[in-house]
Amino acid sequence: MEGVNQSVVSEFVFLGLTNSWNIQLFLFVFSSTFYIASMTGNSLIVFAVASDPHLNSPMYFLLANLSFIDLGISSVTSPKMIYDLFRKHKVISFRGCITQIFFIHVIGGVEMVLLIAMAFDRYVAICKLLYYLTIMSPKMCILFSVASWVVGCMHSLVQMAFVVNLPFCGPNVLDSFYCDFPRFIKLACTDTYRLELLVSINSRFMSVGSFFILIISYIVIIFTVPHSSSGPSKALSTLSAHVTVVVLFFGPVMFFYTWPSSYTHLVKFLAIYDAIVTPFLNPIIYTLRNQEMKMAVVRGFSKLMGYRQILKHLTCEQS
Ligand SMILES: *[C@@H]1O[C@H](CO)[C@@H](O)[C@H](O)[C@H]1NC(C)=O
Repeated sequence: MEGVNQSVVSEFVFLGLTNSWNIQLFLFVFSSTFYIASMTGNSLIVFAVASDPHLNSPMYFLLANLSFIDLGISSVTSPKMIYDLFRKHKVISFRGCITQIFFIHVIGGVEMVLLIAMAFDRYVAICKLLYYLTIMSPKMCILFSVASWVVGCMHSLVQMAFVVNLPFCGPNVLDSFYCDFPRFIKLACTDTYRLELLVSINSRFMSVGSFFILIISYIVIIFTVPHSSSGPSKALSTLSAHVTVVVLFFGPVMFFYTWPSSYTHLVKFLAIYDAIVTPFLNPIIYTLRNQEMKMAVVRGFSKLMGYRQILKHLTCEQS
């Protein structure tokens, strides 16, 4: 009888967010708008940095990496949530559920390492300006971007190793709109106390750890600035954008894994915020506070439109 799967649960049922039709409608409009806006904004940033020679600097490479990962953040949970909003029976397959958890943690890990890399980039730009191009060489940028994926995948694989063999024998209702620890683990038919502890320590270690690394590096930057001689003000203004993003991103994440079971409603709405609003904030915050970026996005946008015009022209001529 080898290979018989202990799990009998083949799908999970989400309780969703609310039963009120008005709130569902509101959430539908709100989430779709933010989803489309953040997909558009982040794609524009990736496109602008890839195609615009004016943005040929480490800061923009890292920003494009962040936007790329934000495309993923928006897409792991929100389309399914939006699709489910008006459905009575909100189900996800066992595999779908595991996949969501896996990608949530890969992306979370990548985002954290990228934010640390961006803080380091600002540190060098502000405090070691003369050596900026030597330290933040193309090799270093690639190293950061590879490291972020390695850390993200490792973090997620470690978590998955704990849960992949859990037996699920019956209860399959998740009071949520997406799959994640610790609610998922709670449904397993075994004593999960230690497992929940392990998984939440792993996630908390990642989020709180990188939050403190970031905060400390910003404090170091702020205290080092007065000693450096040339023009710190522009760099400082980009720094404030970074601090805003870090606080807005980590605030809710630390909350989930620290008080997972309390304040259910609050946690759900924070989860929506993190899945839908944060990926939208990054392009807004970085672009609006940065003249170069603003110009590049406008250029990129008109270029995109231009390509479409040319394409239309060509297809018209052919037919
Ligand atoms: C991420 O950064 C690396 C290193 O600079 C760069 O080569 C790559 O194009 C970036 N990825 C995206 C999606 O912008």
